[in-house]
Amino acid sequence: MQHLPSSQRIRIWDLPTRIFHILLGLFVTGLLITGELGGDLMQLHFLLGYTVLTLVFFRLVWGFVGGHWSRFANFVPMPKDLLAYARLMRMKPKQLNVGHNPFGAVSVIVMLSLLLLQVFSGFMSDDEITNTGPWTALVPSSWVSLATEYHTEVGKVLLLLLIALHIASVLYYKYFHHDDLITPMLTGDKVLAPETQDSRDTLTSRLFALSILAGCAYVVYRLVCLS
Ligand code: HEM
Ligand code: HEM
Repeated sequence: MQHLPSSQRIRIWDLPTRIFHILLGLFVTGLLITGELGGDLMQLHFLLGYTVLTLVFFRLVWGFVGGHWSRFANFVPMPKDLLAYARLMRMKPKQLNVGHNPFGAVSVIVMLSLLLLQVFSGFMSDDEITNTGPWTALVPSSWVSLATEYHTEVGKVLLLLLIALHIASVLYYKYFHHDDLITPMLTGDKVLAPETQDSRDTLTSRLFALSILAGCAYVVYRLVCLS
């Protein structure tokens, strides 16, 4: 008699989503460091900022056309989902979700929004010594002061808090729910029931992702050259 496996490795996070995550983590860390150190590193700060904008644009598009579990339609929750999930969590079941859980989903949306705000406020920031974002000459000076204040006083603090919360939540799931979210974000797979919907992750979909990334880089280039 043939035994059917009760669970198997299923592709949840496609390669483009995983590479996006690694690069985003590295570049945002680089931005926080180069921004704080300033000086000659500001050229690198600007370049990293344009790259992060490209990545965020890519993720926004990928949220509509990417693998099943990377699509916004499959993880952005309704308020009632948050309540139901909070109740479920109290029962401490192992492995609570296939893709992002509802709270994780909210934090993804907030993180992408804060990154957009940080980048566009950077476009209009001026340190009044040597470094000016590419849009400072295009907007009224009151916008420049407001954007610089947001970029240096508010946005960076919000981002740091959210990143700390993000890492703390991932560790909380690992140690309190024995649900390892980190390995699947690196390998792409989770061990789940065989009938679980997987995410498409083929050579064609990866090449498609590359072409989207190139398109996003071009849009960012045009935005930077608006000045
Ligand atoms: C600056 C640092 C970081 C940023 C900006 C960041 C941002 C993000 C974003 C935007 C996502 C959503 C991925 C997507 O759907 O495209 C995500 C997911 C995730 N991140 Fe990070 N991340 C950072 C650092 C880390 C670190 C250090 C870890 C590991 C400890 C980590 C572990 C994860 C995991 C496990 C997920 C998937 C969560 C789930 O299964 O719902 N992240 N992160
Ligand atoms: C996610 C993206 C970004 C992050 C996390 C970030 C972070 C930072 C940080 C931490 C500082 C130092 C703040 C301080 O002095 O207290 C800074 C300064 C600055 N950033 Fe960014 N930045 C980002 C994107 C950008 C972009 C895209 C530009 C321009 C195109 C930019 C332009 C500037 C300028 C001009 C300053 C100096 C402002 C001043 O000292 O008054 N940043 N940034």
